[in-house]
Amino acid sequence: FGRRAHLNDAVPSTQDVLRELAEQGAPEGTLVIAEQQTKGRGRMGRNWVSPAGKGIWMSLLLRPNIPLHQTPQLTLLAAVALSRAIARIVPLEIGIKWPNDLLVDGRKISGILLESAAEDERIRYVVAGMGISVNLEEEDFPPEVLEKAISLRMAAGRPIDRTDIITAVLEEFERLYELYAARGFAPIRALWEAHAVTLGREAILHTPQGEIVGVPEALDELGGLRVKLADGTVRTVYSAEIGDRT
Ligand code: BTN
Repeated sequence: FGRRAHLNDAVPSTQDVLRELAEQGAPEGTLVIAEQQTKGRGRMGRNWVSPAGKGIWMSLLLRPNIPLHQTPQLTLLAAVALSRAIARIVPLEIGIKWPNDLLVDGRKISGILLESAAEDERIRYVVAGMGISVNLEEEDFPPEVLEKAISLRMAAGRPIDRTDIITAVLEEFERLYELYAARGFAPIRALWEAHAVTLGREAILHTPQGEIVGVPEALDELGGLRVKLADGTVRTVYSAEIGDRT
């Protein structure tokens, strides 16, 4: 991964740059990195703060040989890859909040956005967007974001080399992607569950179909989250935002 890398100064979003390259036939593993994004986007239509030179804003092209309904598995794979890569370079306790937010001390340090192009159940390509807040300082975050976000620099108390992290992410991603191709989702699921902070704690899940209150218990074989409700029934959720029950 990353043998073909396109480095940009400022772009609206690396997702769109890579999507264009994908449409032109770019191979799997193609990487787009930007120093700054002027319209970085997050999950659920949110903005993603991407100031110049302070973080890693990048998108990786995948052409997986799986049906579309298995893409949640790749989302979880990406979260495991990033958390292992970061922990290799900076000794921090990183927890994964379902599906793929990376947290340090309960605050978000990195976010992942997978966007796929498919024809019916056949995937044409997946653009895996990764944002890592590496050297942002408190004043780089808008006040409403700051209480929920943190950078590696803030957490570690020293500036962190972005290149070391990028190299580690590409290595971990490629290794896990090969493991997934060879052995399927089971080993990825076990690694994800070992890093998860979401399991076993009552939470509110804001799903497109409404709110659910329950205790997330495990992943299902597709990468959905199995949630036990108060009446003892179990629901599986594939898209949601999780809030703490306080
Ligand atoms: C989230 O947690 O909501 C996902 C954030 C994803 C941000 C990355 S930064 C690189 C890529 N380009 C974007 O516009 N978004 C993703």
